[in-house]
Amino acid sequence: MTATAGFRCVHCNKSLGPEEAQYLCPSCGGNLQVVYDYDSLKKKVTRESLSRNPERGIWRYLDLLPIRGREFLSPLQIGWTPLYSAPNLGRELGLSQLFIKDDGRNPSASFKDRAGAIAIAHAMEKGERLISGASTGNAASSLACLSAGMGLKTIIFVPATAPVAKIAQLLVFGAKVIAVKGNYDQAFDLCLKASAEYGWYNRNTGYNPFTREGKKTCSFEILEQLGWQVPDKVVVSVGDGNIISGLWKGFTDFHRLGLIDRLPQLVGVQAEGSNAIKLAFEGDGKLRPVSGDTLADSISVSIPRDGEAAVAALRESRGLAVSVSDQEILDAMPLLARREGVFAEPAGSAAVAGLKKAVREGKVGANERVVVVITGNGLKDVSSAMKAAGQPYSIEPNLEALRQLVKKEQLGA
Ligand SMILES: Cc1ncc(COP(=O)(O)O)c(C=O)c1O
Ligand SMILES: [Zn+2]
Repeated sequence: MTATAGFRCVHCNKSLGPEEAQYLCPSCGGNLQVVYDYDSLKKKVTRESLSRNPERGIWRYLDLLPIRGREFLSPLQIGWTPLYSAPNLGRELGLSQLFIKDDGRNPSASFKDRAGAIAIAHAMEKGERLISGASTGNAASSLACLSAGMGLKTIIFVPATAPVAKIAQLLVFGAKVIAVKGNYDQAFDLCLKASAEYGWYNRNTGYNPFTREGKKTCSFEILEQLGWQVPDKVVVSVGDGNIISGLWKGFTDFHRLGLIDRLPQLVGVQAEGSNAIKLAFEGDGKLRPVSGDTLADSISVSIPRDGEAAVAALRESRGLAVSVSDQEILDAMPLLARREGVFAEPAGSAAVAGLKKAVREGKVGANERVVVVITGNGLKDVSSAMKAAGQPYSIEPNLEALRQLVKKEQLGA
C-alpha cells in the first residue's frame, strides 16, 4: 500500500486526508495535488532499490503512486518509452545535448496512457464499473484502450471535430462515444454534468487529481534513463496544463526523496491561439479564456483545466513559456521525422517548434542538456501530417512515365 498522506489544494493550500476529497477541493473548488509521506518513502525508494527493480513501465514506481495494490494494474506496456539522443535535430537547432522522450510509443500512442492507467486502477479499487471522460481525443482513446479486457465500461465525450483516427481508436476499443457538436470545453462541461447526474466515476483532466500522478512517471523515467543527470530544460506542449504540472510533480517528488539534488527548468509550449497559460504565467497569474484556435487539436483549449498548477510549475521551476504558430507546428513535424525518425502529431511537434524558437531567442543555451517530450504519435492525425509533408508523385504504371519523372524531379540525384 502506498503511503498516500492525502491532498493539498493547489488554490487555497488546504490539506485534506485521503478520504476527505475525491475530485476538487471541498472548500474552494480548486484542483488537488496528491501528497505522500515522504519520510517513510525515503527509506523505501532509493537509487539502489530502483536499480534492483526489473520492471520496465510505470508500475515500476508503484510505491510513489496512489494505488493500493496490483490487482487492477493494466497489463499493457505503459511508459518506459525510449529516450533517444537526438544529435541530428540538435545540430539543426544548435544544441549539443538534445534528447527526445518518445511517448508516442505507448499502447494508445500518446502520453495520456500514463494517466489513464492510474485513473482506471483507482476507479476499480473503489469498485466502480464505469468510467467517463471528456477529451480532445488522446485521454479518451487511452481510457478506452486500457479499459479493454479490464471489465470496465467507458463513456467518452469528445468534440465532434476530433481527428478521425482518435475517434476510430475509441470505437475499436469499444467505448461508448458521444461526439459533442461543440469544442473541447463544452464537451468537458457536459461530461461533468452527466457524471454528476448518473454517478459515473470521472477521469477529466484537471478535475480528477490522480491523472497528474500518472503523468509524473515520465520525469522519473527521464532521470533514470539519463543515469541521474538532471536535464537543464524539459520542453513539452501545454493545453490544459496537466502534463506539465505532472512532469513537475515527478521532478519534485524525486527531489524531496533526495534522489536528485537540483531541478530542471520547464519550457511550456502553447499554440498562439491557445495560450492562456503562457499569458497567465507572464502576466498576473490569472487564467483568462482564449479562443483555443489551433490545428494542434490536443492542445486546443479555451479555459485550461489545470492552469493554476501549470503556472505554479513554470514559476517554481523558473521556466519559460513559448507560443508557436500553426505553421511552425506543421514545419516541425517533418523536421523531427526526417532528422530523428520520430513521427509526432501536431501537439508533439509543437514542442520541437517551441524549442527551436526558444534557442533562436537565446532562452535555451547551446550546451544545455535538453529533453523534449513528444506526447503523441503522428498517425493520430494523418491529415495534418499530409498538410506538413505534401503529396506523393502520381504516375501511370509504366517505365517511361517513371523515367520522365526521375529526370524532371532529379530523383536519386
Ligand atoms: C499529444 C498531446 N500533447 C499535449 C497535450 C497537452 O496536455 P495538457 O492538456 O495536460 O496540457 C495533450 C493533451 O491532450 C496531448 O494529447
Ligand atoms: Zn482549496
